Amino acid sequence: MSILDTAKQAAAGVMAKLQPATPPDPLIAKRDRPGQHGSLGTSVPRIDGPRKVRGKARFAAEVPAERMTYAALRYATIARGRIASLSTAAAEAAPGVVFVMTHANAPRLKPPASFMSDPRAAGASSLPIMQDASIHWNGEPVAIVLAETQEQADHATSLIEVTYEAAPARLVFAHEATRSRQPDSVLGEPALVQAGDAEAALAGAAFKVDRTFHTPRHSHAAIEPHAATVWWDGEDLVIHDTTQMLHQTRWTLAGVFGIAESHIRIFSPFVGGGFGGKGLWSHQVLAIAAAKLAGRPVRVALSREGVFRVAGGRTLTRQRVALGANADGTLAALIHTGTVAMTEHNNCPEQFTFPARHLYAADTFLLEQRVADLDMLANTFMRAPGESVGTFALETALDELAETVGIDPIALRRRLEPKQDPTSGHDFSSRHLLEAYAKGAERFGWNQRSPVPGARREGEWLVGMGMATATYPYYRMPGGAARITLTRDGHARIAMASHDMGMGTATVQAQAGADRLGLPIDNVTFEYGDTALPHGTIAGGSSQTASIAAAVTAASAKLVADLLQRAGNDSPLAGLSADAVEARDGGLGHREQTDRFESYASILSRAGLEALSVEAEAPPPMEVGTYSMHSYGAQFCEVRVNAVTGETRVSRFLGSFDVGRILNPRLATSQFRGGIIMGLGLALMEETQFDERSGRVMNPSLAEYHVPVHLDVPEIDVIWTDIADPHAPLGAHGIGEIGITGVGAAVANAVFNATGRRVRDLPITLDKLL
Ligand code: MOS
Repeated sequence: MSILDTAKQAAAGVMAKLQPATPPDPLIAKRDRPGQHGSLGTSVPRIDGPRKVRGKARFAAEVPAERMTYAALRYATIARGRIASLSTAAAEAAPGVVFVMTHANAPRLKPPASFMSDPRAAGASSLPIMQDASIHWNGEPVAIVLAETQEQADHATSLIEVTYEAAPARLVFAHEATRSRQPDSVLGEPALVQAGDAEAALAGAAFKVDRTFHTPRHSHAAIEPHAATVWWDGEDLVIHDTTQMLHQTRWTLAGVFGIAESHIRIFSPFVGGGFGGKGLWSHQVLAIAAAKLAGRPVRVALSREGVFRVAGGRTLTRQRVALGANADGTLAALIHTGTVAMTEHNNCPEQFTFPARHLYAADTFLLEQRVADLDMLANTFMRAPGESVGTFALETALDELAETVGIDPIALRRRLEPKQDPTSGHDFSSRHLLEAYAKGAERFGWNQRSPVPGARREGEWLVGMGMATATYPYYRMPGGAARITLTRDGHARIAMASHDMGMGTATVQAQAGADRLGLPIDNVTFEYGDTALPHGTIAGGSSQTASIAAAVTAASAKLVADLLQRAGNDSPLAGLSADAVEARDGGLGHREQTDRFESYASILSRAGLEALSVEAEAPPPMEVGTYSMHSYGAQFCEVRVNAVTGETRVSRFLGSFDVGRILNPRLATSQFRGGIIMGLGLALMEETQFDERSGRVMNPSLAEYHVPVHLDVPEIDVIWTDIADPHAPLGAHGIGEIGITGVGAAVANAVFNATGRRVRDLPITLDKLL
């Protein structure tokens, strides 16, 4: 155990004593009470669905403005050096061009505060934006052109003449990895975790597997490319952004432009997918600066190429997993170490060792992450960062160990089930992974799998089955606040500056609000996507549902207290404390005495109020310091590999999840399936081609950067345990990213079972199987 970890544990222990565990969310118990079926747990269709299918949901790149200008960017073609000459005369003279901004005329701006430098920060990189002639990555914007139409702006960028003085750049990962460094932390966790002497235990183990894995760079490929429509109204800045971090973006932009946050309002009611990539990049800053100088609104809608050039994605990893097993199949040593590419101006070390910190019992541990600094676009969070590629390596190695020991891969994992979190020592808040294995194995027909690779052939097709564990942490972000406005007509408006990027936030929060307040769901509206609303937390880390629920719970407690106070002596509720009442049937009632009840309408009208509004902040997320909290799952895959061409087709897939309570089965199924599809992309096709000579991304389009299409996706079956976590708001763990994890290994293990070929280098393309 590292000193840092020990200190953290001690601190958590002290915190746990100071803050006794909060009682379970009453809504969990309510579900099990007869006649009290609420809205949660039912498949309410998406509230925003009708607007979306009718084209009435307005996205950031669709917001109109008078005298709009359209922006296009010109991207640098060297990885490092300086702009030697830059001529914009031809571009400025081109039809429709309104304004051209380069480092020569850009306003002085402070560099953005980047992730991890401050909890309020949204910057993906701390590099200054267009402040001088220096170039930091191949693709960095060197000019922004504003024109009357998008086509005119695009054309004018091609007329800019720019030459460079290139400087030597760090581009070859294998070379830079020889002088890698240990980052100060990996998302706040120590970069090195050790328990015992794992190398010695490995050397003396009865069985061992010691392998190196590679995963490539990935680029964000949300259906909606990054976009913002911005304008200045005097000193006030209005931004319609496609973002998953509203208040964080506002705080960071306030720092960049040196203005008060109160002068910035950001709207983001609809986002066409975020996946970690929809943060603050250079394009918004450039558009805002250019809008100020030009005195006109600006729409910057990145092309697909633009997304690849200026919005970072997942970095590459080189990972070692070494497993030493005792004669009984338990682990003597669990070693998971490796290096990723990063930059000096960001802090996103792709936490690939996180799964190994919490999944399996072992006598000894050695877990270490290192980073190699390159001259490239800052990488960022992307679709289960760390856990997606970390489980690929760990779960493939476990499959290899099962093969070596000669036992079934699930049987091996069952032997490794820990009683407490293996590295933190914390109790698990809720972990039913063994049940997920069992349910999944039965439903999938795991007993049909032959333990002998290559045993099943149907014509040209080799058929195999594989499985892997899925895991993703439970996070709840601090600092969120919610407002509830109750009106005399028995409606509630719940507001928090949060995000719906397609996952169903507004729907689930309306369900939760309805149950919390004892109202029908049609009487509850959830407002989000606007910095004028109470402070929101990021929609990231699969944390948002819990973060919002905790804030709404706090606000509803305040609302109940306020209502009781206002009810007065004539109310049937007179004299009751908040603990004695519950929200039901559009009002408040005594928990046991069913006749002691008063409707919200009655309380408000007697108090002479049309509406009552309260706001409260969520309590700090003490549960994560007290318990080991994670989402879990078991991924099962059947593949068919063509013996002639090497082509891999996933023919069946099942995800069996243990993620606390399922709040809306329809939306949850969609989340899991979407995650699994992203996992299939990671397993079989996605790879950003980075030219190590030039630092240029060579496949910046969906024609060459392949993501799964419908024909690549089989029927995906999804099941879950639905066991509530008493320590989580609503009993629920996050479900946004868990579906992605484990998929890479489940596919790779199935490919091995089909062919006898181990692929440890993603993606599993046909050339690696021939
Ligand atoms: Mo997720 S990668 O935290 O949006």
